[in-house]
Amino acid sequence: MKPRIALVLLSLVLSLLIGITLRRGAGGPVPDGQRRPIIGLSMDTLEVERWQHDRDLFVARANELGADVLVVSANSDDTRQVRDCEALVNNKISALVIIPHDGAAMAKGVALAHEAHIPVLAYDRLILNCDLDLYLTFDNVKVGELQAGYLVDKLKGKHARIVRLLGSKTDNNAFLFKQGQDNMLNPAIARGDLEIVHEDWCDGWRPENAKKVLNAAITKAGRNIDAVLCSADILSAGAIQVLLEEGLAGKVLVTGQDADLSSCQRIVEGTQSMTIYKPLKHLAYTAAELAVKMARGQVIVAKEELDNGRAKVPSIFLKVLVVDKDTMDSTVIADGFHKREAIYRK
Ligand code: GAL
Repeated sequence: MKPRIALVLLSLVLSLLIGITLRRGAGGPVPDGQRRPIIGLSMDTLEVERWQHDRDLFVARANELGADVLVVSANSDDTRQVRDCEALVNNKISALVIIPHDGAAMAKGVALAHEAHIPVLAYDRLILNCDLDLYLTFDNVKVGELQAGYLVDKLKGKHARIVRLLGSKTDNNAFLFKQGQDNMLNPAIARGDLEIVHEDWCDGWRPENAKKVLNAAITKAGRNIDAVLCSADILSAGAIQVLLEEGLAGKVLVTGQDADLSSCQRIVEGTQSMTIYKPLKHLAYTAAELAVKMARGQVIVAKEELDNGRAKVPSIFLKVLVVDKDTMDSTVIADGFHKREAIYRK
């Protein structure tokens, strides 16, 4: 029996025995050693700092594993991202990795790939209502719990007034961050320990929309604010500009996510309180390893699954860490994510 067939049979038997989820490269894969597979990477945007890290790490690892990567970025435009997928599919890719701008709109990208028997991996953000092959992400509900939990803890003992800047409504992650935040906020609100004085979504995760929401909050509820709960660093960047203009920077707690360099600088300088460090190297390397396996038609085992409205998608969730002034050195710097000199500007 050929080794690959034996592996598939063994995995099928295993799945029946212990109920794990299996996904195999759906088709069009390149058998080991025949030619260098090409992987398509369709990105929402490269404007936000974190996605540049993701791209560089993904491409480096895929190259190490003997695959080439075609990268395209859609500039947050759904029509363009669907066209990008179409172009990648026509370029003889063997696996498609998508970071969707709009989780619903990109079901079309998955369908286009599947018509050509190309398997699809959703990277960090879920694609909704389609037969997605695999989803790799961080524990996004946990991200929201850590952000809001940080505030609940730091604001203990006072009736705190919080403004909440939610993410982009087109991104399923934004709802998961909110869900995690609600898990921590609701009991404190019920106890009368804190109050959300204003909250709104920030379209496209744009810092200028974060500014608009915080300005609206100040107009509505005044400058008496204890914290701005921002779902990501790109929003805290906008919020802190407003706080600086209002003379409130450093006096109001501000959360974030992504450990962007500018946020880490603001944390050690005192205008931002915390961020969430998502070890992007782990995400990008794991994604590259999985994509190369998919491209080669190898079996992939995912122990968890997530309902995307159409199917239970085999999923992998990676862990995240809280970063503040005290843990900057032991997390972001120790991991080599940013250099000490860059964060402390010396
Ligand atoms: C989310 C992602 C966050 C953040 C945000 C804005 O989907 O999980 O890490 O980067 O997008 O780009």
